[in-house]
This record gives sequence, structure tokens and C-alpha cells, in this order.
Amino acid sequence: MKKYIDDFKVIKNERLNNEYVILTLKHPAKLPAMLPGQFVEVRVDKAPNTFLRRPISIHDVDTEKNTMKLLVQEIGEGTRIMGKLSEGDVCNLVYPLGNSFSLPDKPRVLLVGGGCGIAPLLFMGRHLKANGIEPQFLLGARSSDGLIALDAFKALGTVYTTTEDGSAGTKGYVIHHPVMRTQTPAIDHIYTCGPEAMMKVVAKYARNHAIKCEVSLENHMACGFGACLCCVADTLDGHKCTCTDGPVFDSTYLKW
Ligand code: FES
Repeated sequence: MKKYIDDFKVIKNERLNNEYVILTLKHPAKLPAMLPGQFVEVRVDKAPNTFLRRPISIHDVDTEKNTMKLLVQEIGEGTRIMGKLSEGDVCNLVYPLGNSFSLPDKPRVLLVGGGCGIAPLLFMGRHLKANGIEPQFLLGARSSDGLIALDAFKALGTVYTTTEDGSAGTKGYVIHHPVMRTQTPAIDHIYTCGPEAMMKVVAKYARNHAIKCEVSLENHMACGFGACLCCVADTLDGHKCTCTDGPVFDSTYLKW
């Protein structure tokens, strides 16, 4: 898929809580094709200590308005500066990068996310819906204020939630939610993104129940194009770059 480097204009910065913002970026012309699971590399301007672009998942795309949304978790200088971008600012992106989630062979799908890992699942949910598949989302957080952007997910499908402290949804981790255990009808395909510990548990459950499972890895990235090897994942075929071979892998292909 062809890559682009373009200046986008920030048209909205929506703060969700003290950790997350959603940036809406407008492309000056027609947006090129992008697929759920892919990511962008953001150039961070006026950042004295951030020399590398920051990799951010594509959260949503509106091809009619030529806009893209990025869910940004402020965890370092680069993302904190991104979180302060305001209407009219320019945001330079290299995009779209990496591979993407596949469409399922069978219709009953579950998208399981936690933390910033919910980001690509919204775009995937929209893609599934456009292909006639009703998405179900299972989103986990430590507490209720970590359950972000729920309305956008609810607009696309059924949303189940868990919190570790029980302040919203089912108490516990995503793996404890009853929807993971529902076998009639069984889940055919799981898509998951979030903390590695969560994805490993979900992948193990999927393997034990013969459910196809695709995971989107959030490995640390630097260059974003396969040169620095800081993002490698251990697979059945040896080390693979998360930025170019991934970020999406079939869970059975990973040596977990
Ligand atoms: Fe450099 Fe993947 S980020 S090789």
C-alpha cells in the first residue's frame, strides 16, 4: 500500500480525561485508502527531546469528510505536546503504515480492548459494519473513568465493559466477562489490542476454544519502517518487525 507524508489540519481536540485526547485531523484533499489496524507516524514539532515521530493507531476515518481521528495517550513529552494541539494547528503524518486486521470468515465477532488498545477497534468495528457484520465490543479498564469513547463504540454495535474495581460493567478483567464464555452461538473470531498481559490471556482462551484470534501488538517503535529492529516480535518464523510485518498477527503465529 502506498505511503504518504502530508500535513493535516487539527480541527478538534477532545479531552476525554486527564490521560487521553482524541484529535480530529483533516486532510487537505481526498484521503487515500486506509485499513483498520494500520497506524501513522506523527512528527512532533517544538519538542526539544522528541526527535522521532510517534506511532499512533488510526482510531477512525471519515472518507466523506476526509478526516482521521487519533486517540492519544499522554505518556511522554511527544504525546503530551500532541495532546496540546489545538484547532488550526498543523500535524504532519507518515501514513498508512503496517498491516491490518482481516475480515472474518464467520459472522460472530468480538473485539476486545483495553487502555489505548481500544484505538484501532473503533475503526475495525466501522469496517465490519460496512461489510454487514455486527460488531460486539468488550472493553476493559481499571475503573470507570478509564472506559473512554464508549458512545462512539455504542453507535456501531453492542458494548460490554469490565473494570478491575467494579465501578462500571462487570467486575474483573475482560476474560471474566460472561460474553467470553458464551458458547451459544459461539464467538467465531476475536480481534484484540491492549496491554500484552490481557492479549495473552485472550489469545490463550481463543486457542483453547478453537477461535481465530488476531492481536494488534503495541511494541515499542522508533523508525516505523523496519530499519531499527526495536519492535521485533518472536514468531514461529523467528523475529518479525511489528511496524512492517505487523502490528496485526494471528495469535497462533506468535511465540506466546
Ligand atoms: Fe524500527 Fe520497527 S520501529 S524496525
